[in-house]
Amino acid sequence: MTDTDNHFRAETDSDNIVWLHFDRAGSGTNTFSTEALHELDRQLQSIATQCPRGLVILSDKPNGFIAGADIESFTRIETEQQALDFLRLGQSVFNRLAAYTLPTVALIHGFCMGGGTELALACRYRVTRDDPATRLALPEVRLGIHPGWGGSARLTPLVGGLKAMDLMLTGRSLAGRQAKRIGLVDSVVPERHLRAAARRLILEAPAPARPGWLDRLSNSFIARPLLATVMRRQVAKRAPQEHYPAPYALIDIWRQHANDTGAMLEAEAQSVARLINDPTARNLVHVFFLQEQLKGLGRDSDYRPEHVHVVGAGTMGGDIASWCALRGFRVTLQDQSPERIAPAMQRAHALFRRKLKQPREITAAMDRLLPDHKGLGVARADIIIEAIFEDADVKRGLYRELEPRMKTDAILATNTSSIPLEELTEALARPGQLVGLHFFNPVAKMQLVEVVNGASTTAEVSAQAMAFTRQIDRLPLPVTSTPGFLVNRILMPYLMEAVTLESEGVAPGLIDRAATGFGMPMGPVELADSVGLDICLHVAKVLASHFNAEIPERLQQLVDVGRLGRKSGRGFYEYRKGKAVKPKVSGSDAQLEEISDRLMLRLLNEAVSCVREQVVGSNDLLDAGMIFGTGFAPFRGGPMHHIQSTGAGALQARLQQCTSRYGERFTPDPGWDSLFDTQGG
Ligand code: NAI
Repeated sequence: MTDTDNHFRAETDSDNIVWLHFDRAGSGTNTFSTEALHELDRQLQSIATQCPRGLVILSDKPNGFIAGADIESFTRIETEQQALDFLRLGQSVFNRLAAYTLPTVALIHGFCMGGGTELALACRYRVTRDDPATRLALPEVRLGIHPGWGGSARLTPLVGGLKAMDLMLTGRSLAGRQAKRIGLVDSVVPERHLRAAARRLILEAPAPARPGWLDRLSNSFIARPLLATVMRRQVAKRAPQEHYPAPYALIDIWRQHANDTGAMLEAEAQSVARLINDPTARNLVHVFFLQEQLKGLGRDSDYRPEHVHVVGAGTMGGDIASWCALRGFRVTLQDQSPERIAPAMQRAHALFRRKLKQPREITAAMDRLLPDHKGLGVARADIIIEAIFEDADVKRGLYRELEPRMKTDAILATNTSSIPLEELTEALARPGQLVGLHFFNPVAKMQLVEVVNGASTTAEVSAQAMAFTRQIDRLPLPVTSTPGFLVNRILMPYLMEAVTLESEGVAPGLIDRAATGFGMPMGPVELADSVGLDICLHVAKVLASHFNAEIPERLQQLVDVGRLGRKSGRGFYEYRKGKAVKPKVSGSDAQLEEISDRLMLRLLNEAVSCVREQVVGSNDLLDAGMIFGTGFAPFRGGPMHHIQSTGAGALQARLQQCTSRYGERFTPDPGWDSLFDTQGG
C-alpha cells in the first residue's frame, strides 16, 4: 500500500512496517521547508492511526538523507515571533515522532545535517551506511545559531554532555563508525544490508542505547557548571563572544536545563529565535550562500579531465599535485631533477596519511602521483599546471618548450601570483588555452582558487578551469588578469599599513590584536611573517609599480638582513619551534580602534577600487573571495557587506580624516561615490 504526497511517500510492507520516503519535490537535496514539515506532520498523524509494526524514515535522494532546514527560509524570517513559529513547528513534528510508542528508525546514507540529524534523534534507532560519504553533524553554530528542533535536548542525554556539546560547539561531522562509537547511531552497515538492519531493529525492538556512567555524569547538575566554564574558555579561543554569541548561548541553556527535556526544548527555541535575527547569523547565512554561489560556478561544464601534469615541485606545485592526486586525479609532477621532486613526494605521503588513514587508500593515492622529471606526462595531460619561479622570462621559456608537446585541447594553467597573463601569452601559439589557477598557500587548507581570465582566455577554457577547481573540491573565483588579481591586491595595502604602523613604533602584538579584534583570523604582522617577507616585498613591488603606491622602507630593510619571517626564524617576530614569540603588549581601546581603522580602511578602500575596475563580477564575489581566500571576518559577511552595513558615507568620511592625518594613501577611491548604485549586495 502506498500513500503519496508532495515530498513524502509512505509504503507499508508485508511485515506491516511503514517505510516513509523523503524525496523533496523540485530539489536534488532533502531540506525542511515549512511546507515539508507540515506534510511530514500529516504523514506521521496518518501513520499513527494505522498502528503499524514500526516506522522507517529514509531518503530517496542519492546524495544523502536530509541536509537540514531550508536555509533559504531563514532569510524570510524578520521577527523573533516568526522565528519562534518556525522553530515550534519543527519541534512539534519531531516531538510527535519521538512520542510514538512503536519502534522508529532513521535510515541514513550520505549527509545528515542539522534538522536531518534532529529528525534522526527523534527516532528510537539510527542506522547508517558504512562509507566515507555518510556524515552526521549538527553544524548550526556555523550559521550563527545552534540546534533548535530538539537537537541539543535529545543529543545530550543520548551521548552525554561532553560529547554532545563538542559536536554542537564545533559543528564538525562524524562518519557512521565514529557516530556509533559515541552512541549516536545504533548500527553501521554496508549499503546492501541497510534495509535488513532497519527491519531487524523494528522486529526485535532492542532497548535503546544508553550512555555510560561517565557520559551521564557529565550531564549532572554537579558537573555542568565546571564543564560549562571549561567549554566557554575553549570556545573563546576561536570565537569571541561579542562576534559569535551562539555557542555561548548553547552552553548556557545546557548548563541550566540539561536533564529536563521540556525546559531544554523551550530554551532552545527561545534562544535560536533571538540569535537568528542577530547580524552575526544573518551575515553567516549570507556567507553560506556566497559559498553556494562559488560551488555553482563551472557546474554547467561537462569537462572531465583525467590526467593533471604539474611543472614545478616547490612549495606550491608540490602541494597542488598532491592535492589533485588526493582528489582522485592521475598526476605527473615535473621539476628540474628527481632530487627537487623528492620533498614534494614526502609531503604528499604525509598529506595522504593525514586525510585518508586507511593504508590501502594511501597506497592508491601514492600510485596516482608520479614523479616525472623528464616531463613525459605533458603529452598525455588534459590540464597542465605551471608553478615554477615567479619570473615571466622563465615561464615564457617553459611554455615555448611545453606547448608543442601538449594535446591541442589541453589547458595550460599558471599559478602565477602577480604576472598578468598577457605577458605570458606572447610565447604561445594557442593563447586561448592559457588561464590562471591561483592557489593559496597552504593548498590543503585554503579553499579559494582565483581563476584568472586573460584577454585571450576563451570562455570555454575559463569554464573548464572552474569545473576542474570544483572537481578538486576548491572554490573557484573568476577574476580579471589585473595586477595582484583580487585577493593579494586587497590584502597588500592592509599588510603595508601594518608595516608602517610597526615602523612608527607600534608593537607588532598590538597591531595584530587590533586586527583579530575586528575579526580577522590572524593579525597582519603574523600573516606577513608566515607568507614570507621576501614574497610580500615582491608582490608589493609588482603592485606598487602599477598603482603608484609606496612600500614602507622597513620591509626592504628586514629582507636585506635576512629576516624573512617564520621560515628564517625571525621576521617581525622571533620564532621558536615555528611559533611566534609575542611579548606582552598593552594599549587603550582608543588606540586599538585607531589601529584597526587604519588597517581596515585601507583594505576596504582597495576593495572599492576593485569593484570600480570590475576585477570581479559582483560585490558578492568580492566578499566570497576575501572570506574564503583570507578568512576575512565571516560574521561581518565580507568587505562589501561590511561597507553596506556600516554605511559607505561614514567610512568615506573617515578615510578623508585619515588622509589629512596620515597621508595620501588613504585618499578615498572614486568608486565610493557610486558604490551601491548599479550592483546588488
Ligand atoms: P618554489 O621556488 O618553491 O618552487 C618553484 C619550483 O619550480 C622549484 O622547485 C624549481 O626547481 C622549479 N622550476 C623552476 N623552473 C623550472 C622549469 N623550467 N622546469 C621545471 N621546474 C622548474 O616556488 P613557489 O613558492 O612554489 O611558487 C611557484 C609559483 O607559484 C610562482 O609563480 C609563485 O608566484 C606562485 N605562488 C606562490 C605562492 C606562495 O605562497 N609561495 C602562493 C601562490 C602562488
